[in-house]
Amino acid sequence: MKITIVNGSPRKGNTVAAINALISGLNNHEVELIDADKVNISPCRGCGVCECYKGCVAQDDSNAVIDILVASDMIIFASPVYWWGITAQIKKLIDKCYCKGALLKGKKIGLIIVGGASTDNEQYDLIGRQFNCISEYLNWDIVFYNKYSASAANELAGNTDAMNDLKSLAESI
Ligand SMILES: Cc1cc2nc3c(=O)[nH]c(=O)nc-3n(C[C@H](O)[C@H](O)[C@H](O)COP(=O)(O)O)c2cc1C
Repeated sequence: MKITIVNGSPRKGNTVAAINALISGLNNHEVELIDADKVNISPCRGCGVCECYKGCVAQDDSNAVIDILVASDMIIFASPVYWWGITAQIKKLIDKCYCKGALLKGKKIGLIIVGGASTDNEQYDLIGRQFNCISEYLNWDIVFYNKYSASAANELAGNTDAMNDLKSLAESI
């Protein structure tokens, strides 16, 4: 499969550690990583010119990034929890999915969410419910939703159970 991983964290921390552990087991797939914090994507202005298939009028990285998602069999969204939700960086990119929404239907989806709070916190349900709604709209199939609790930037990398969990997850894909 062509798998694209979208990293929503602006720092080299827990989300990156989770992504790296996952990638180390994804040897049988073509993997591309998009750093939502590094690409130049302006917020969606709701102009409607795209008509949900023509692409975005913005003269930035929006179309190039969305075209990578369109060409993918599976998209893995990996984000820290910021204020009970996903980060603004990854949300901005998801908003731009609108510009080619008609071409983004039927993807396999994976979710990796890392928050400081324990994994029974309501925030993981809120984020899961948001992706369930998006998936219903775009006919996406959420294949996995892995949640981890870590705060300091190097914490998750030192969590052997989490690292092993991610490697086994990669093998199951
Ligand atoms: C602006 C901001 C908001 C945050 N909000 C939450 C939150 O609502 N719930 C939570 O559990 N952790 C929250 N955190 C903690 C991060 O989710 C946590 O440190 C996470 O491990 C960061 O991931 P990263 O190392 O990949 O950047 C917040 C951190 C920041 C910087």
